[in-house]
Amino acid sequence: MKHGNKHSSYRIDHATVQRIMDAADIVDVVSDFVHLKRSGANYKGLCPFHNDRTPSFHVSKAKNLCKCFSCGKGGNPVGFIMEHEQMSYHEALRYLAKKYNIEIAEREMTDEEREQESERESMLAINEFALNHFENNLTETQDGRDIGLTYFRERGLSDATIKKFRLGYSLEQSDALHKAATGQGYNDKYLFATGLCGKSENGRVYDRYKGRVIFPIFGTSGRPIAYGGRTLSSRKDVAKYVNSPESIIYHKSNVLYGLYQAKNAISRQDKCILVEGYMDVISMFQSGIENVVASSGTSLTEGQIRLIHRFTSNVTVIYDGDEAGIKASLRGIDMLLAEGLNIKVLLLPDGEDPDSFARSHTAEELAEYISQNETDFIRFKTAIMLKGAENDPQKRAEAIKAIMQSVAKIPDEITRHVYVQECSSLLNVTEQKLMSHMEVARTKYVEDKANEQRKEKARESIKDIDNKPDNNAPVLSTQQPDSIEENDKQFTAYAAYMKTYESEVVRYVVRYGVMDFCNEIDENGQQYPIKVIDYILRELNVDNITFTNSVYQRMLNEANTLYQENWHNDFAKHNETLIQQRQQAIADGIEEIRRTANDLSSITAKEQALIERVDKEYYDNIIEFNCQYIAKFMMYSQDDQVRTIATDMNIEKHELSKVHTKYAKIETEIDRLTELIPRAITELKDAIIGCEIKAIQQEISNLSSSPNADIERIMELMARQTELNEIKKQLAKVIGDRIITPRK
Ligand code: UTP
Ligand code: MN
Repeated sequence: MKHGNKHSSYRIDHATVQRIMDAADIVDVVSDFVHLKRSGANYKGLCPFHNDRTPSFHVSKAKNLCKCFSCGKGGNPVGFIMEHEQMSYHEALRYLAKKYNIEIAEREMTDEEREQESERESMLAINEFALNHFENNLTETQDGRDIGLTYFRERGLSDATIKKFRLGYSLEQSDALHKAATGQGYNDKYLFATGLCGKSENGRVYDRYKGRVIFPIFGTSGRPIAYGGRTLSSRKDVAKYVNSPESIIYHKSNVLYGLYQAKNAISRQDKCILVEGYMDVISMFQSGIENVVASSGTSLTEGQIRLIHRFTSNVTVIYDGDEAGIKASLRGIDMLLAEGLNIKVLLLPDGEDPDSFARSHTAEELAEYISQNETDFIRFKTAIMLKGAENDPQKRAEAIKAIMQSVAKIPDEITRHVYVQECSSLLNVTEQKLMSHMEVARTKYVEDKANEQRKEKARESIKDIDNKPDNNAPVLSTQQPDSIEENDKQFTAYAAYMKTYESEVVRYVVRYGVMDFCNEIDENGQQYPIKVIDYILRELNVDNITFTNSVYQRMLNEANTLYQENWHNDFAKHNETLIQQRQQAIADGIEEIRRTANDLSSITAKEQALIERVDKEYYDNIIEFNCQYIAKFMMYSQDDQVRTIATDMNIEKHELSKVHTKYAKIETEIDRLTELIPRAITELKDAIIGCEIKAIQQEISNLSSSPNADIERIMELMARQTELNEIKKQLAKVIGDRIITPRK
C-alpha cells in the first residue's frame, strides 16, 4: 500500500503527544464549541453532549479536564474533541496539533500495532481518494463534462456551488474507480468496506456509482464518510439514488447532509433549516440560505437531532405540501420537541420543493417567504389535526389529546405551560382541561423514558468492561465446564466479582505508579528506590496473577511500558530543568540576602533557610511530577477503554480533593501508600483464593454425591483446600480484622 496508509502505518510519537498535551488548554479547546462563563476558579457552560438547560458542563483550567455533572461526559482535551467531533483518537490528536501549530513526528508502528491499525483511517483515506477521483472526472474528462457537469448546470448550479459541495461524476465504466484506486496501491478490502465498489455474484468487481453524479457526504470534521450517487436516467427500474452502506465510518442515523458546509451559518444565525434532499440543500445554499441541512431520505433520527442541537436550539423544518409529507412530519416534530428544540414548520406552495422554490425565487424572496410563513409547530399541528374534525366531537377530542401528547414531550416546564395557554385559545378549550391532559401524558412519557434509560444503562454496564475469556485467567473451576457457554458464564461472574479488587490495584498504578514506594538494599549494600509499579508487578508476578478483566491488564501493561520506555528520559529532562531552576533560585536568593543584610552574622542563617525552602520546592515538584506522570499519559492512551477508565480514575481523584481542603485527601492517600497498597494486593489475593476454595468445595460436594466417587481426587482436593485455608489465614493477618470493602 503506497498511499492512504500514511496515517495508519505510523504512530504519533511520545514526544509529540507530550507537546500536544502541554499545549492543549481545556478552556481554549472547549471554547471553540461551548460558550463558557467564568465561575470561580472554573468555567461553566451548557453541556454539548446532552440537552442541557442549566449549565452543567464544568471546565477546570487547573486540572485541564472538563466534565458534565449531569450526563457524566467529558475528559481531557483529546477526549473532549473525540467525543464532540466524533473523531478517532488520532484524528483528535491531529486536530489539536493543527490548532496549536505542533509538527507531528511519527514513528513506525510495531507489528502488533500494525495489526490493529485503524480500519477507519484506511476507509477515510480511500474515500478521500475517491472524492478527488470523482471531482476530477467531472471537470477533467470529456464524459464528465458532457454528462455530469452539463446535468448540474442544467439544474442551475454554479461552478462555485459545485466546488463547495465537491460534486463529482462516476464514469460510465464498470470499474474505473476500482482500477484507479488499486493502481495507486489502495487495498481492495477498503473499497468494499466503504461500499465504493461491490462484487457481483460471478465475482466481478464493479463501481457502485457507475454513471451517476456524485454527492459526497462529509463528517463534521470535513472528511468524506459516504456518497450519494444520482442516476441520470429516468427509467423507473433504476434506483434514483444509490447511497453508501452503513460502516464503521458511516452511521447514517448520526449524519446530516450539508452539516459540514452549514455549521458555521447555523451557529451564527442560531437556527437550522431542515429539508429532505441533497438538491434541496444545495439549491438553498446557492440562494444564500446557508444554514440548511438534510436528513437525506431517512426519517429524522434522534442522533441527527442531537447533532443539530450541538449548534442551535432553533429548527425550521421545510416540508413539501403533500399529504404524505405532512403526516411524516408529525413524528419528526415530536422527536425534535423531546430534545428541547424550538420548532417551526414551513409548508411550501403545493407542487414545490425547496430546490424548485429556491431556483424560481430570488434570495430575498426566499428569505422573506421563510420569515413570513414559518409557523410555530403547535399551530401547525393543530391546523392539521383539526382539519375536517371541526364538527366531529370524537375526532376533536382525539386531536386535543394528540396535541397535548406532543406538548408533554417538551423538557422545559415553562415552555409547556406557554403552549398549553396558546392551545387553549386555539382550540377553545379551558386551560385547566388541557393541563390535566398534558400532565397525564407527561407522567407517562417521563416514566417510559426512565424505563428506557434504565434498560440502556444496564446494557451499557455490561458492555462497560470487556469480560472476554482470557486464557491466563486464574482458575475458577477446578473442572473444565461442560460447555463454552457455561465456561463464559462462570468467567463473567468471576470477572464481575474480581472487578472491584482489580480496579483498586490498577488505580494505585494509575495515580502513583512511578512514585517511590520503598527502598531496597541489594547484596552490595547499595540502596535504591522501588516504585509503586515495581512493587505491585512483583507482588502479582510472585503468585502468577493476571487480571481477569483484560482492560485492567492492558492498563497495567501500558503503565509498565510508559515506565520502562519513557519515564526515565522524561524524568531526567524534567529534573535537569528543576536543578537549573533550583540553582538560579539559590543564586538569586543569596544575592538578595547579601544585598539587604544588616549584619554579617544573620547571613548564614538566612542562607540556610533559603536553601531549605528551595530544596523543599524542588522535592515537592518532583513528587508532583511523578504523581501525575502515569495518569497524565494514560489519559492520552490510544486504547479507548484504557483512556476512559484512566480519566475516570483521575477525575475521581480531583473530585475527592475538592471535598476536602486542597490536596488534603491526596496527601492522606499518598502518606498511607505503604499501608494501602499492600492491603489492596492482599485483598485481591484473598478474593482469588476465596473463589478457588469455593470452587473446590463445590467439586468435593459434587464428587461425594456421585455413587462411584473418585476418592483419590477428593483427598487431593481436600489437601488443596487445607493449604488454601492456611494461606487465607495468613492473608487475613495482613489485612487485619477490619477488611476494607473495595470501592465500587
Ligand atoms: P428526492 O427524491 O426528493 O431527491 O429524495 P432530491 O434530492 O430532491 O433529488 P432531485 O431533486 O430529484 O434530483 C430526497 C432524498 O431522499 C434520498 C436522497 O437523500 C434524496 O436527496 N433518496 C431518495 C434516496 O436515498 N434514495 C432514493 O432512491 C430516493
Ligand atoms: Mn428534488
